[in-house]
Amino acid sequence: MKHKSILYLIIFPLFLLTTGMNVYGKADVVSLQNLRTELLVNPVGIDVTQPRLSWEIRSAARATVQTAYQVLVASSEEKLSANEGDLWNSGKVGSDASVHVKYNGTDLKGNARCYWKVKVWTNKGESAWSSPATFTIGLLNSIDWKGRWIGMDRSFPWDSETQWSRLSARYLRKEFETKKTISRATAYIIGLGLYELYLNGQKVGDQVLAPGPTDYFKGVKYNAFDVTGMLKPGKNAVGTILGNGRYYTMRQAYKPYKIKTFGYPKMLFNLLIEYSDGSNEAIVSDDSWKLNADGPIRSNNEYDGEEYDANKEMPGWNTSGFDDSKWLKATFVQEPGGTYEAQMNENMKVMATIKPVSIKKLKANTYILDMGQNFAGWLRMRVKGSKGDTVKLRFGEDVQANGELYVRNLRDARSTDVYILKGGVQESWEPTFVYHGFRFVEITGYPGTPAIEDFDGRVIYDDMKTTGGFLTSDATINQVYKNAKWGILSNYKGMPVDCPQRNERQPWLGDRTTGAYGESFIFDNSRLYAKWLDDIRQSQKEDGSIPDVAPAFWRYYSDNVTWPSTYMTIADMLYRQYGDFESIRKHYDSMKKWMDYMAAKYTRDGLITKDKYGDWCVPPESKEMIHSRDPKRQTDGVLLASATYVHASSLMGKFAKLLNKNEDAAEFAARASAIKDAFNKKFFDPGKGQYSNNTITANLLPLVYGIVPENSREKLMASIADKIMIENKGHIGTGVIGTQWLMRGLTANGRPDIAYRLASNRDYPSWGYMAENGATTIWELWNGNTANPEMNSANHVMLLGDLVIWYYENVAGIKSDPDAPAFKKIIMKPEMIDGLTYARASYQSVHGLVKSDWKKAGKTFIWNISVPANTRALVYIPASSAEKVKEGKKAASASDGLKFLKMEGNRALFEAGSGDYSFTSNM
Ligand code: BGC
Repeated sequence: MKHKSILYLIIFPLFLLTTGMNVYGKADVVSLQNLRTELLVNPVGIDVTQPRLSWEIRSAARATVQTAYQVLVASSEEKLSANEGDLWNSGKVGSDASVHVKYNGTDLKGNARCYWKVKVWTNKGESAWSSPATFTIGLLNSIDWKGRWIGMDRSFPWDSETQWSRLSARYLRKEFETKKTISRATAYIIGLGLYELYLNGQKVGDQVLAPGPTDYFKGVKYNAFDVTGMLKPGKNAVGTILGNGRYYTMRQAYKPYKIKTFGYPKMLFNLLIEYSDGSNEAIVSDDSWKLNADGPIRSNNEYDGEEYDANKEMPGWNTSGFDDSKWLKATFVQEPGGTYEAQMNENMKVMATIKPVSIKKLKANTYILDMGQNFAGWLRMRVKGSKGDTVKLRFGEDVQANGELYVRNLRDARSTDVYILKGGVQESWEPTFVYHGFRFVEITGYPGTPAIEDFDGRVIYDDMKTTGGFLTSDATINQVYKNAKWGILSNYKGMPVDCPQRNERQPWLGDRTTGAYGESFIFDNSRLYAKWLDDIRQSQKEDGSIPDVAPAFWRYYSDNVTWPSTYMTIADMLYRQYGDFESIRKHYDSMKKWMDYMAAKYTRDGLITKDKYGDWCVPPESKEMIHSRDPKRQTDGVLLASATYVHASSLMGKFAKLLNKNEDAAEFAARASAIKDAFNKKFFDPGKGQYSNNTITANLLPLVYGIVPENSREKLMASIADKIMIENKGHIGTGVIGTQWLMRGLTANGRPDIAYRLASNRDYPSWGYMAENGATTIWELWNGNTANPEMNSANHVMLLGDLVIWYYENVAGIKSDPDAPAFKKIIMKPEMIDGLTYARASYQSVHGLVKSDWKKAGKTFIWNISVPANTRALVYIPASSAEKVKEGKKAASASDGLKFLKMEGNRALFEAGSGDYSFTSNM
C-alpha cells in the first residue's frame, strides 16, 4: 500500500501528463469554469491594483490535483486570443493554488479593461485555455474623478423635516452630444443616499437601493457600468434620481445625539467615453445640470414609506429634447469627505417576485393582503381608477385577532406607501427608494375591488448567489431551515441589518458573530462581509473603541466586548470559508488596536470587566417579558466579556501567525492564558463541574473556548446536559451569546442527540415553536408571539446562533478543515443521530460543488458525495469495519481515488480525492 502510494505520487503524474489523451480518450478531462476576479464574475470598475484571480477546475477523473497554472492578462481581446499576456504572463507556475491568485503584472491603470484566461496542469492531464474573462479597473484615486459634487442643499416647501421627515426625490438631467464612433463608455456614479441612473430613458443596471450604505463622512462607494451599448450617435441624455437612503437620515430631527445624518442628497458622476479614433470625452456632474425636486416621488423614507403622485410625472425627462427650462440649475455642494471606493459587494436587486396567497375585505374600502411569507421588499400594484384616487398600502408582519393589520412592533415606523393615480388608464406602480419588512398589507383607497392578480411581492436583497441546499428527513428542521433562509436574505441590505421592519434596521455587530458563518453556507456573502469589516474599521474611534452598530448610523460606543468581537469572528469566517486572507491582513492592526484598548481600559483582577447586553434574549421566566430579570437565567457579564476576550485572543493569535507576527502571537497567547487562570479561579467550581451560577452559557463558553481544565471537561459537559435535559426538560436556555456555540458545543462533546432534540422541538422555547406558531422567518425573541411588542421583530436572525453551521457541518457533514481553508480539505462527518434517517446537502465552495447525500436503511448506510477537483476530503463513514465499506460495486479500499486511513471508533476514515463517490456500509 505504502509503496503504491509513492509510485502514485511521483510517477503517475508524469506518466499521465504525457499520455493523458490516451488514457481518457479525450483532451477535456480537465476543464475550467467560473473564472472570478476578487470572487466576482467579469467585474466592472474594481479599485484594486492587484486583483485576486480564481478559477474552478472540473475533472472527469478522480483525485485530480492542480500541479501548475499559467495566467495571461492582456489589454485587448485580440492579444489574449493570440496568447499574448502583455499585462501579465505568469508563466507556468508550479502550484496547487486555484483561488485568490494575486495579479502580479504591470501596473494597472484607472479605467483600464483587462482580459484574462488561465490554463492548468494537473496530475490527470492539462486543461485547454479557459474561455476569456474580463475585469475593468475603476477610478483609483479621488483625483481621477472629474467634475464636482452637485445637488441642492435645502429642502422645498412641500418637504417637512420632523421626526417623520418627508423629503422629495431630486431629479437631475443633462444632455450631451457624441460626434464620433464610440468604442467604449463607462459610467461612474456616487449617488447619495440612493440613486437611479438613466441613459436615453433607459435604466442603467438592474440594481435597486444603490449604492451600499456607509458612514458617508468616512468613505463612499461608487458603482461603475459599461454603458457602451446605451449611447447613441448625436444627442443623448443622462438622468438621475436621488433618494434619501441613510444619507439624509430620516429620524435625525428626532434624536440628533443618537442618529447620524449627512445632509441633503448629492452626487458625483463621470461618464467616460472612448472614441474609436483614440480620443476621449468625459460627461461630468457640474452646474450645467438641471434639477427638479417637484417630481412624482413626493417623499421617500426608509421607515415611513414612499409617496408617489403619478400626476407629477415628467414624461421624457430622462431623454433628449425634453424642455427643462422650468427646472432649477443644480448647485455645487460640499463633498461628503472620506474615501471614494469601488463597491465590491453586490448591490440589492429584486431577487424574486412572489404572488399573494389571499386578499380579504376587512371593512368598506379596506382590504388585507397576505403574501404568505414574511420578507423584505415592496409591493408592485396594478390599478385603474380616476385621476387623484389615492391608494394607501400599509405594511406589517402580522394581523391581529380581529383581522386588522398588526403594527405595534414597528414602533414609530409608518411603513406606508401612497400612490396617487393619473386616472383613466391601467397603471402599474412600485416604489423606488424604500423597502418594507412584511407579510401582510392593508390596502385602502383602491378603486374597485382589488384582487390577488393586481399585486406582486418584490423580494429585495443583495444580489448574491445561493450556494447551499439542505433537506433532511425531519420536517421541523426543514421548515426552520426555510425560515432561516428567508430571515437571512431579508436582512441583507448592503450591510447585515438586525431587522427590516421597525424603526431600527441597524447593522448590529452581535447579531452576526457566528450567524455570518452559518449564512455563508446558504449565500455567497463573502463580499458583503468583507465590506462590513471595512464599515467596522471606519467606525473605529481614534483610541480603538469599536461600536455595537457599524456603520454607526446609531451611535452606540458602549465598549462592550461581545458585540465588537464580531470584527474578529467575521474575518475568521471569511478566511475559513472563502480563503480570504486579504481581510485579515487589512484589518489586523485595527483589530489589535481594539484588543489593546479593551485590555488596557477594562482589566480588573485579571478579567475583562465590560459587558452591556448580557446573554441577550434568554428565554425569560414569563411569556410576556422581553428580558429575563431572574438572576438564575442571566449569565455574569464579566464571565461573558472575559470568555469572549479569550476567544478573540485566540483568533488574533491565529491571524498573527498567518501574518508571521510571532511576537504578537505569543503576546495574545499569554494574555489568553492569564485570563483563563483568573477566570477559573473566579468562576469555576471543579467539585460541581460548574461555572458561576451554572447557566448553560456560563458553562458552554469555557468548554468551547478551551478555558476549562482538560480533566474537567466531561463533568462540565454533564452539567450542561443536565441543565438542558432535566431542568429545561429538553429545551434551549441560552440567549444570543450561548446559542452561538450551543449546537456545535453539544455535538463536539458527544451529545449530538441533545442538539437534535433542540433542533426538532416544536414547543416553547425553540425554533420549531416559532414555526409551529406560523413564523415564516426567525423571531427576535423565543416568545415572539406573546412578548411585549416594543422589541419584538418577527424577522431577526440572531437567535439562529450556530444552527445553520450545525445543519451543514454536523448533519450533512460538509465542513472546511480550518487548517486548509476554503474547502481545500473537506471534513465529511455527518452525525448519526437516532431519528434522523436522511440528509441531502450541497454547497458551492470557491473550489467547486461539494455534495453530501446520506440515508440510513436499517443497518445499512448509503452515502453519495462529491468532492471538487483540486480538493480532497476526509470521509468518516459509519461502519463496523473498513471491510464493510463499499464504493460503487468495489471494496472502498480498492476504489480509485480513495485511501483507507484508519478506524476511528465506529467510523472508517478514508481520504478521498476529488470526484463523485457512492458508498454503502454496514453500521
Ligand atoms: C436589536 C438587536 C441588537 C440589540 C442590542 C436590538 O434593538 O434589534 O438585534 O443586537 O438591540 O442591544
